[in-house]
This record gives sequence, structure tokens and C-alpha cells, in this order.
Amino acid sequence: MMSGAREQPGSATAFEGLVDHYDAGRPWYPPALYDALPDLSGRVLELGAGTGIATRELAARAGGLVATDLGPKMLGRLHERSPQVPVAVCRAEQLPFATGSFDVVCGGQMWHWVDTSRATNEAARVLRRGGALAVWWNEVDADGLPWWDAQQDRLEAANPRYTRRYRERDYAAELAPVFPRVQTWSTRWVRTVDWPTYERWLRSKSYVQALPDVESFLEEERASLAQAFPDGRIVEPFRVSLWVARTA
Ligand SMILES: C[S@@+](CC[C@H](N)C(=O)[O-])C[C@H]1O[C@@H](n2cnc3c(N)ncnc32)[C@H](O)[C@@H]1O
Repeated sequence: MMSGAREQPGSATAFEGLVDHYDAGRPWYPPALYDALPDLSGRVLELGAGTGIATRELAARAGGLVATDLGPKMLGRLHERSPQVPVAVCRAEQLPFATGSFDVVCGGQMWHWVDTSRATNEAARVLRRGGALAVWWNEVDADGLPWWDAQQDRLEAANPRYTRRYRERDYAAELAPVFPRVQTWSTRWVRTVDWPTYERWLRSKSYVQALPDVESFLEEERASLAQAFPDGRIVEPFRVSLWVARTA
């Protein structure tokens, strides 16, 4: 059974009010991720491109790239930074592109937002025969570290719709009815940031914005991280995971 739209711990449109925080605090993706993507030398469509964190790297590799997002403000920031990339405001579930017009459809940190059934069929429609859909996520890979476990405990207690595993799904099984061949890949990487950057990352999360008292949560986080990282250098371990699905 393919799933449709799912309940989320935050709002998909919340990002429209978070562009500056998003731009300043969100993690990037390691170079190995771009090397693991399908051949980008043809026509590439990016879905849910946001402020363009991945777009900047994709643009350097793609034969032709179009970036899309449902949010005009997120996409506006992308356009400021990458004016050479054509953009279109649209949902992954209803793409304003001709059938068979792309070699690769891709998106980072966004596929969990879509109505899976509609977006999967729409991606397959705009791909040429043999084309690939590639979706990927950064996840903090810090289970067992006290600062991380404490943060996640606080979030789960304060936002009843949030669970630390909310993006963990069987994406291969969801895609399989339309994309019979699904391959996965992942790697670990680390970034080190200061508190102002980390705070902006927290503020850029839709499920943090959905908390009843964002400022108290951030104050507790600041104290917890100051204890865990007394030199002020917050070390975040990540795992980036990729699913590549091909049409028949
Ligand atoms: C967490 S952000 C990821 C942005 C960017 N891909 C990145 O890696 O930083 C999720 C993005 O998906 C967009 N989005 C959410 N639901 C969408 C949908 N159904 N169709 C297209 N974009 C969507 C949001 O507007 C937001 O910009």
C-alpha cells in the first residue's frame, strides 16, 4: 500500500517565515552525497529546493537544472543566491512540466513532506524512461550522547506530534509500486558550529516553531550545550542517507 499525506510535527508552510534562520543555520550536505547521486549531466529537476543549499552544488554539476519549491520566499532566497538557476513555485504533487522532460528528479530533506502517492506518480510522469528519482536526508547521528538525548526528550515532551524518528520510514517500499528499482546509500559526516549558528538551526525547524514556548526551549538548550561543549564549539555528527529510484 502506498501512503498519502502524513501528519507532520510542524507545518510545511512554516519555512516561509524562517528563511533567514534557515539560510544561516541549516547543515549542508557532504561532497560524497553529490558523488553518490545519479548522473547529473542531463536535465535535472530539484523539488522542495528551499533556500538552495543543495541547488548551489547541483548547479555546478548538472547539465540543466530547474529548482522548485512550494514556498515563494524560500525560492526567492535561492534565486538571490543562484540567479542563473530557473525556478518555479509548485508542489511536488503537481508539477508544471511536460511528461518525460527530465533525466533526474531530486530533493534533499523534503520527501517526507509530500503526499507520497501523488508525488511519486508525478515524479515518474516528468522523468524520461530510465530516469531516476533521488531523495536524501541529513539526520543527526547522536543517539546515546547525553546532550542530544536530553534535547530530543524535551522536544517530544513539548510537541506531542514530534518524535525523533518521524522521518524514519520505509521509503523504498513506498516508492516500489512506481519505481521498481530502489537503491540506498549513506555516509557519516560531522560539522562544528557555534551557539548562534546552532540556535538559528533550531529556530529553522518547523517542529521547534510549533512548540508552545520556543524561547524557554532555546534557553534550556543553550545551557545544556554550554555544559556539553564548554569551549563553545558544538560538534554535530550526521548521517546523510540517499534513496535512488529508477523508472522501469
Ligand atoms: C526542510 S526544507 C528542505 C529545503 C532544501 N531542499 C534543503 O535541503 O535545505 C523542506 C522544503 O520543502 C518544501 N516543501 C514542503 N512540502 C512540499 C511539497 N509538497 N512540494 C514541494 N515543496 C515542499 C518547503 O517549502 C521547504 O522549502
